[in-house]
Amino acid sequence: MAAAARAAALLLLLMTIATTMMPPPAEAHLEMGAYNKTCPQAEDIVLKEMTAILGKSPDLAGPVLRLFSVDCLVGGCEGSILLDSTPGNTAEKDSPLNQGVGGYQVVDAVKAKLEAACPGVVSCADTLALAARDSVRLTKGPFIPLPTGRRDGNRSVAADVAPNSPPPGATIADIIALFATKFNLTAKDLAVLSGAHTIGRARCSTVSPRLYNFGGRSGASDPTLDANYTATLRGQCKPGDNATLVYLDPPSPATFDADYYALVAGNRGLLSTDAALLLHPATSAYVAVQANATSSDQFFADFAASFVAMSRLGVVTHHKGEIRQVCSKVNPPAAPATTSASAAAARGYYQLTTTAGLALITTLAVAHHLLM
Ligand code: HEM
Ligand SMILES: *[C@@H]1O[C@H](CO)[C@@H](O)[C@H](O)[C@H]1NC(C)=O
Ligand SMILES: *[C@@H]1O[C@H](CO)[C@@H](O)[C@H](O)[C@H]1NC(C)=O
Ligand SMILES: *[C@@H]1O[C@H](CO)[C@@H](O)[C@H](O)[C@H]1NC(C)=O
Ligand SMILES: *[C@@H]1O[C@H](CO)[C@@H](O)[C@H](O)[C@H]1NC(C)=O
Ligand SMILES: *[C@@H]1O[C@H](CO)[C@@H](O)[C@H](O)[C@H]1NC(C)=O
Ligand SMILES: *[C@@H]1O[C@H](CO)[C@@H](O)[C@H](O)[C@H]1NC(C)=O
Repeated sequence: MAAAARAAALLLLLMTIATTMMPPPAEAHLEMGAYNKTCPQAEDIVLKEMTAILGKSPDLAGPVLRLFSVDCLVGGCEGSILLDSTPGNTAEKDSPLNQGVGGYQVVDAVKAKLEAACPGVVSCADTLALAARDSVRLTKGPFIPLPTGRRDGNRSVAADVAPNSPPPGATIADIIALFATKFNLTAKDLAVLSGAHTIGRARCSTVSPRLYNFGGRSGASDPTLDANYTATLRGQCKPGDNATLVYLDPPSPATFDADYYALVAGNRGLLSTDAALLLHPATSAYVAVQANATSSDQFFADFAASFVAMSRLGVVTHHKGEIRQVCSKVNPPAAPATTSASAAAARGYYQLTTTAGLALITTLAVAHHLLM
């Protein structure tokens, strides 16, 4: 046999091995309808359960939507916010910065329905993503077609929260820079995603620093907050009351609409970060356009796009991560496998597709034949 043919066969062999063993592309891969085959009813189950839950408790839409953003913005949309602390590790959810975060029981309820229908198939990260998507839709916001296929990560460390959150006293420039450097999200994304504050509530402990002793000056309030609104809020949040919840968008607290921008433009944005959108041209321009808009169509389209961009942050796909059984705990170690090959497969290493496996075997056979 000609040396050239042998060399070609060897090269083909090496290339095939290299291709089959290659790690998944660095650009993590989500797709529309990732559960079409493995759990075709998954998205319907989430919508049905969310409809039931929000039908009883409309105020849970805000916490679920926020929970998803808090998951994505710290270490990616991989369900780490849902993990409980363990001996020796304080989890993200127990960071002081996440004290007001809730909605965990909603995710657990939806996940239980998914597990009943398709055990071990739908990740907690996707359960939360779809529940958040439906919180928007069920409060009359846009329907957001959402790619799925996120798997669950296992790192949840409270100390990761602060570096990924705007520090106290952050300026709008700081927040825009944080979004760009940590999340690859633009100033427009920030202005658009802040529109989520059209539903839900904040704790008085969040709001009171704007109402009392602002900047350490006795009796002072935040001058960028409308004076009448300050008076109303002082009635709701008495000094020292940390727990009472106040609506972010009081005229329509349970409707996902574009009114938020009119509030912000009128100096009635509840959070200091809402008010801060007016202090940078990149974000104030968006607020002005939406505050004047005659329809919510553009905001809804923008929100869907920015929401999907956020939903792609740091996702775990392919052989990485796991499908958690219970969202608050990593899966118990797999039962000892009978062979080392099945143990490796159980841990998700070297998952050769059938086609790739066949190609490898065929190439080996052909090469063997040629080299003889
Ligand atoms: C720079 C970015 C953001 C900051 C600084 C921020 C800050 C906050 C704060 C301080 C609260 C009130 C928490 C409390 O007092 O307990 C809140 C509530 C909320 N946030 Fe954001 N947020 C940001 C981005 C987002 C994003 C991207 C979303 C979703 C897409 C979102 C959705 C919500 C919702 C729905 C609530 C109400 C939660 C409830 O009803 O319990 N936020 N946010
Ligand atoms: C799942 O089905 C939808 C609707 O038919 C389709 O658009 C999507 O591409 C499918 N996804 C996969 C991974 O098969
Ligand atoms: C987390 O996952 C990594 C790799 O995916 C693994 O090495 C590690 O043991 C896991 N940790 C826990 C606590 O499960
Ligand atoms: C950053 O986001 C842009 C879209 O706004 C995208 O084209 C680009 O690939 C992203 N870069 C990284 C490193 O993810
Ligand atoms: C604030 O309240 C006062 C008294 O109720 C009212 O006269 C004034 O028009 C209000 N200002 C704004 C900006 O709503
Ligand atoms: C309210 O929160 C502040 C700051 O977090 C804290 O110093 C204070 O003790 C809290 N008050 C109550 C009554 O919990
Ligand atoms: C709405 O548009 C008008 C005219 O273009 C402008 O003067 C006004 O400031 C805008 N409103 C807001 C809230 O930006």
